[in-house]
Order: sequence, then C-alpha cells, then structure tokens
Amino acid sequence: MDYKHLAESAIKSKKNALPTYSNFSVGASLLTSDNKVYTGCNVESSSYSLTICAERNAIFKAISEGERVFKAIAVAGDTNDFISPCGACRQVISDLCGEIDIILVNGNGDYIVKKTSELLPFAFGDKDLE
Ligand code: THU
Repeated sequence: MDYKHLAESAIKSKKNALPTYSNFSVGASLLTSDNKVYTGCNVESSSYSLTICAERNAIFKAISEGERVFKAIAVAGDTNDFISPCGACRQVISDLCGEIDIILVNGNGDYIVKKTSELLPFAFGDKDLE
C-alpha cells in the first residue's frame, strides 16, 4: 500500500475516535511488513491519564495479533499543522516498530514523511538495558 492510501486509512480511522474530553480526534494506520494494515484511534477516559492515543492503540492491536515487523504508520489529525505524535507514542514507535516511516497527516489530507529517529533522536531503548 502506498502512503497516500495509508494516509486515507488513518483519516478514516479518525472517525472512530472517542475524544470525549479534548474534542481532539486522531486516527492511525500501521502498515506491517506483509502489507496488512492495523488501525487505531484515540479513546479517552474520565480518568484522563488512562486515555490511549491512536498510534499506541494501532500498535498494541497489531502486536497483540502476533505482528512484529512494521514498515510505516500514518497519523491523522484535524489540525492545519501536520499532527505531531506525543512523546509516549514516539517511545513506543521506537521500541516496537524501530526505524520506520511516520506519515503525518493534516486536516486537509496533506502529509509529510518523517523517520522514527527524526522524531525521537538519541532514544532510550533495548540497548540501554543490556
Ligand atoms: N492524541 C493522539 O491520539 N495522538 C497524537 O499524536 C496526539 C494526541 C490524542 C490524545 C488525546 O486523546 C487527544 O489527542 C488530545 O491530546
């Protein structure tokens, strides 16, 4: 799947968001090495810190289905600026997906492509726990 279609999938996933408290919807679509797509959206809790972001939702879904190797993740928001994944999601992308392409989609459907290490340089990881 090309990145235009992955971006469109993330935009579609955004429709399932449950942004009860922030009113800020996000969708994510994660592409595996064998071209399967796992989608996610943000789901919020009244105990705010229990909220899950779209990116981690998609990644944990894929991991829990046995997937381990990923090529790219598209993340879509409604903002004019390209959405910027939070620090927690950058760490999880780095740990569980490695150096992949991260497609950041704005409210117009335009996108830019970044690498994991661009969004999280000098990352903490497995190597630090040896
Ligand atoms: N959020 C995401 O799902 N992904 C991001 O990249 C940024 C933030 C969610 C978390 C929360 O539900 C809402 O957006 C506002 O922070």
